[in-house]
Amino acid sequence: MTPPDLPLDLRPAREGDLIPLARLWALAFPGEPSVANRARQLREGGPYGGLETAWVAERNGRMAGAFRAYDLTLHLFGHPFPTLGLAAVAVHPSFRRMGVGGALCRAALRLGRERGDLLSALYPFRVDYYARLGFTLAGEFHRYRFPPASLPLFPGWERIRMLVPDERIPRIPRFYASLLPRLHGAAHRTPAMWEFLKEEETQVWGLCSRNGEDDDLDGYMVTESHPRRRGRRAELRVRELLVEDADGYRAFLGWLSAQRDQWTEITYDALPGERLQQVLSHPRLPGTGTARGLWFPSATILRGPMLRILRLPDVLARLGFSEGAVLDVRDAEFPENSGRWSGSGEDEPQRMRGRPSEGALPISLVTGLLAEGELPGLPPPAASGFDPAMGIRDFRILDVF
Ligand SMILES: CC(C)(COP(=O)(O)OP(=O)(O)OC[C@H]1O[C@@H](n2cnc3c(N)ncnc32)[C@H](O)[C@@H]1OP(=O)(O)O)[C@@H](O)C(=O)NCCC(=O)NCCS
Repeated sequence: MTPPDLPLDLRPAREGDLIPLARLWALAFPGEPSVANRARQLREGGPYGGLETAWVAERNGRMAGAFRAYDLTLHLFGHPFPTLGLAAVAVHPSFRRMGVGGALCRAALRLGRERGDLLSALYPFRVDYYARLGFTLAGEFHRYRFPPASLPLFPGWERIRMLVPDERIPRIPRFYASLLPRLHGAAHRTPAMWEFLKEEETQVWGLCSRNGEDDDLDGYMVTESHPRRRGRRAELRVRELLVEDADGYRAFLGWLSAQRDQWTEITYDALPGERLQQVLSHPRLPGTGTARGLWFPSATILRGPMLRILRLPDVLARLGFSEGAVLDVRDAEFPENSGRWSGSGEDEPQRMRGRPSEGALPISLVTGLLAEGELPGLPPPAASGFDPAMGIRDFRILDVF
C-alpha cells in the first residue's frame, strides 16, 4: 500500500523487523525497556497483541516509521463497535517533519476502515495533531487526590475481600463481561488483556455478592501501593473500580476511608457522573492553598482519549438513526462519510447528496456528539434500552494502550 501524498511503502511487520522496530520505538518512546526486551515483548505479544499488530513504512528501503493497529471492540450505549486502536506511531528522527507521521496515520485509518472498523481510538501526544485527522477528545476523568479520612466510613466494606491471583480468573473477567454492555465506551477484554491479574503485585479487591453465591461478585477494585519516599507521601492509587450499583460503590469508598491509618493520600480517577466531590469532606489536594480567594482547587481534569468515526453510515445504522432524520457531515479524510445522510427506517441511512453543504458538521464534532449521546437523529440512549451501571453514562475507556 502506498499512501497518496508521500513515497512510502507500507507493509505488515515481519520477523526480521523485530530488532529494527524495537530500535525505532526505543528512539521514539525512550524509557526503561532495553531494545532486546522490547523485541522480546513484541515477539511474545502483549495485552493488545504482538508483531501481527505492527506496520512498517519504508522510504527507499529504510525504515522511516511504524505504528500498531490494535483490534479493539468498544461498547457504546450497549452496542459493540469494532475499533482500530492506533498506537506507537513513530517516525525515525531522520524522517521527521516531512509528513511521514501524517501519512502513517492516514494509512492506518484507511486500513482500519478496510478491515471493517467503525471507530478509531488513540491516546494523543498532542491534541491538534490528531484533531486535524478528524479525532476528537472523548470523555474525561476527574483525578482526585485526597486523604482517606475525607471519605465517610460508608458501611458495607466488610463484603470486600482481597482476591489472591488464583481467585481472580475467571471471576473478575466474568464480572467485567457482564457489566460491559452497561459501560459506555469500555473495551471488550481478551484473556491477554487480563494477564495483569496473574501478577502477585497487582492488588485486587472483590465485593462479594449479596446473593450469597461464593463465586459471584458485585464489583471489584484494582489498587497500587506507592510507599512513602523522599518528597512523596504514602499513596494508594486506585487503577480500576467497577461496581454494579451505588451501594457497592459506597462500600468501596468506605473501605478506602478505613485505610486512613496507613495511607496519607488516595489517588482516584473518577467519572464526572460519580460526583465524588459531594462525598469528600475536603475535596482539595493535600498541601495546596487556595487558588484565589475562596476558590477551591479540587480534581485535575484528565481529558481523552481521542475518538474518530471511520464508517459513519454503519455507526448510524447500529445505533438506530431515526427515519426522516438528517445529518450533514464533512470528512476531509474519508469522502465516503461526507454528505447529507437521511434515516430511511431501513438498516442503512441513505446518502442524499455526496457533497457536504456549507454548514455541514465536521466529523470530529459528529464523533464528539456521538460519544456524548447527543447526536441528532439517534434515539436517546435510555429510549433504546441502555441501562448504565450506577446510572452513569459518561464515556470512558479504561484501557491505556
Ligand atoms: C509525533 C511524530 C510521529 C510526528 O512525526 P512527523 O513525521 O514528524 O509528523 P508530520 O511530518 O506528519 O507532522 C509534523 C509537523 O510537520 C509539519 N510538516 C509536515 N511536512 C512538512 C513539510 N514538508 N514542510 C514543513 N512542515 C511539514 C506538519 O504540518 C506538522 O506540523 P504541526 O507542527 O503543525 O503539527 C514524531 O515526532 C515521533 O515519532 N515522535 C516520537 C513518538 C511520538 O510521540 N509518537 C506519537 C504517539 S501518539
